[in-house]
Amino acid sequence: MPITWSPETREFHLHNDLISYVMRAHENGALGHLHFGAALAADRSHAHIETPPFTGFSNRVGDPVALEYPTTGSGDYRIPALTVELADGSTVLELVYLEHRIVAGKPARAPDDRLPATYVESDDEADTLEVVLGDALSGLRVELTTTIFRDRPVIARSARIRNEGPSAVRLTAAMSATLDLPDARWELVQLSGAWARENHVVTSPLRPGRQSVGSDRGTSSAMHNPFIALRRSTTTEDEGEAYAFSLVYSGNFIAEAEVDPFDTARVRIGISPNTFAWTLEPGATFATPEAILVYSDAGLGAMSDALHGLFRERLARGTWRDAPRPVLLNNWEATHFDFDEVKLLEMATSARDLGVELFVLDDGWFGERDSDDSSLGDWFVDRRKLPNGLDGLAGEVKGLGMRFGLWIEPEMVSERSRLFADHPDWAIGVPGRSRTESRQQLVLDMSRTEVVDHLFGVLSDVFSSAPISYVKWDMNRTITEPFSPGLPADRQGEFFHRYVLGVYDLYARLGAAFPGILFESCASGGGRFDPGMLAFAPQVWTSDDTDAIERLKIQWGTSLAYPLSSMGAHVAAVPNHQTGRITPLATRAAVAFFGVFGYELDPTALSEGDRRAIAGQVDFYKTHRDLFQRGRFVRLRSPFGDGGNQTAWAVVAPDASRAIVGYYLTLNRPVPAADRLRLRGLDPSRAYRVTGWPEDDGDALFRANTGVRGGDELMGVGLSIGADRDEAGAWGDFRAWLFVLEAVE
Ligand code: DGJ
Repeated sequence: MPITWSPETREFHLHNDLISYVMRAHENGALGHLHFGAALAADRSHAHIETPPFTGFSNRVGDPVALEYPTTGSGDYRIPALTVELADGSTVLELVYLEHRIVAGKPARAPDDRLPATYVESDDEADTLEVVLGDALSGLRVELTTTIFRDRPVIARSARIRNEGPSAVRLTAAMSATLDLPDARWELVQLSGAWARENHVVTSPLRPGRQSVGSDRGTSSAMHNPFIALRRSTTTEDEGEAYAFSLVYSGNFIAEAEVDPFDTARVRIGISPNTFAWTLEPGATFATPEAILVYSDAGLGAMSDALHGLFRERLARGTWRDAPRPVLLNNWEATHFDFDEVKLLEMATSARDLGVELFVLDDGWFGERDSDDSSLGDWFVDRRKLPNGLDGLAGEVKGLGMRFGLWIEPEMVSERSRLFADHPDWAIGVPGRSRTESRQQLVLDMSRTEVVDHLFGVLSDVFSSAPISYVKWDMNRTITEPFSPGLPADRQGEFFHRYVLGVYDLYARLGAAFPGILFESCASGGGRFDPGMLAFAPQVWTSDDTDAIERLKIQWGTSLAYPLSSMGAHVAAVPNHQTGRITPLATRAAVAFFGVFGYELDPTALSEGDRRAIAGQVDFYKTHRDLFQRGRFVRLRSPFGDGGNQTAWAVVAPDASRAIVGYYLTLNRPVPAADRLRLRGLDPSRAYRVTGWPEDDGDALFRANTGVRGGDELMGVGLSIGADRDEAGAWGDFRAWLFVLEAVE
């Protein structure tokens, strides 16, 4: 049993071969935290690990310093898990252990909480501990749910807060998880950026005080991902300690670390308290989103492996979870709003001839949308552009032997739309105040059930009107003037969370009604790339930035938390629409292969040479699709290091029988230094046949490295990447080389 409870020492020990998580119900009732990290013996007590109280630290309830769900007002001044306002205006709680339950597996979340979560398919995959804490005076109960997965270094944690008292309680912060660590010698890793520059890796040492990232924009945001990691300064991709904290949530969040005067560290992650307040009437319950905690003693690589496996196998769900994802062509960058059925069918036919499997019609097919200033909300086909309707177009595409996909942006409304004319009050805003427009559109109030019901109705009609097997669900602005007329004045603090619950509701209902549809989420690219979305849409449009060189950083950073099967990555035309950069076609493909592959260009405008090259790319991707979509991603050389001129990464088959290495050089230089790229994750006892892509006999790097090589040599010595590149076939900037490794039997 991977969860043990010792009544004598009052310890809970959640353990598997990789990690231990130990808590204790102390004599004074506080639920203390003893350890999360390296696996410890299960048959021994660890009660003595308890951190002694510090001088001057007077936490009445939690005399021990390390706590599982800390509150405020009794001497612990660090970042709390839970803050409240009780009926008398006081804010102090004394949470003490009441009871617990250990269950096999991972119980499904209560249906009423509507939040996505990780799951198991059989009870032997995990065990779950539910501990109930209570505050006697107010009657508030906190049920902490902690799951340990059998084969993963992963803990899933969430809280349910129930009001069993006689008066309403106002929650002003309710975290999903906190973690007290006995030292502060950590570096904080965050994924930060902006639109078209998502998920850049930023690392800074923990220092006294609080460091946080978060979002109060309504979505998890392109600015900060709901993920942080802690690493030692010596931790590398394959050695050393790291913790990951990830939130299965798509709205406002906080991920924060605090170093106290005694050099311990506390981390918390959950819904942002800046934009949150929730009234719990007697008998009511509030459920927090789920937090995922990972411990790795084998570097950042093993940390990412754990998240990738969990998100791919036990967060994503449905028909498309394990199915090979189709190679697609999206018309957006090629046409924007300027298309008609003839143009689209020319593009689809041309793409079909190149081997593309899915044709995606992006923005502009509905209402009278000739630019981005109208028609959002009017989800009926624009017959001026598509005289035969969606059915006619999708039928033709299907006739070509391809799948058909469609873009929607359900959460939005244009002021110039029939929907807005009919329901101006459905757009979010404060009555009497002007609404801030962004991209000339407003956001629908998804906290209202009538709005969600309406969208379910009209989108169900669209999805059943034609053979649609893929939907790109976009969300192109964040929320301003947060307010809902559907909520009373004293409950407006619930608005942002209720918005997210409404989005989840719509996703869940449409997903259940149309189980064959592959959903891809998008928020101007990666503005809502988070685990909450992955529970409904197993892939995400990673970024609107399709420039191959920019994508190196974006995809590297995104891979810290998210698997390649979730990252949409497309080859676009040059000069690139976001940067104006001109990169070789092969480089664009060599970057986009490491994700869910596709194209974002007009195939009818290609030269014969480019068409031949693209047909080869599609063929190459299909041949290795399982590896790219389900292989282990190994980061080798960071675009954030050493001036960012080189990047290298690889995908490796689970049995190490195959691998593909990508090596990218941003700027070429004369007389390159001698250099070796050591690989990881191969079988040292096997030999591998190494071939190059794209095939080029004249290329110095391929000549130096192709042939049969031992896994030991490839990992211990490495590929030679310092060869003289100043020759035909290896000339110029923005170059990429792929090495395909196949074990020789
Ligand atoms: C933003 C998306 O990220 C793009 O790919 C495209 O779908 C546009 N919206 C369409 O408006």
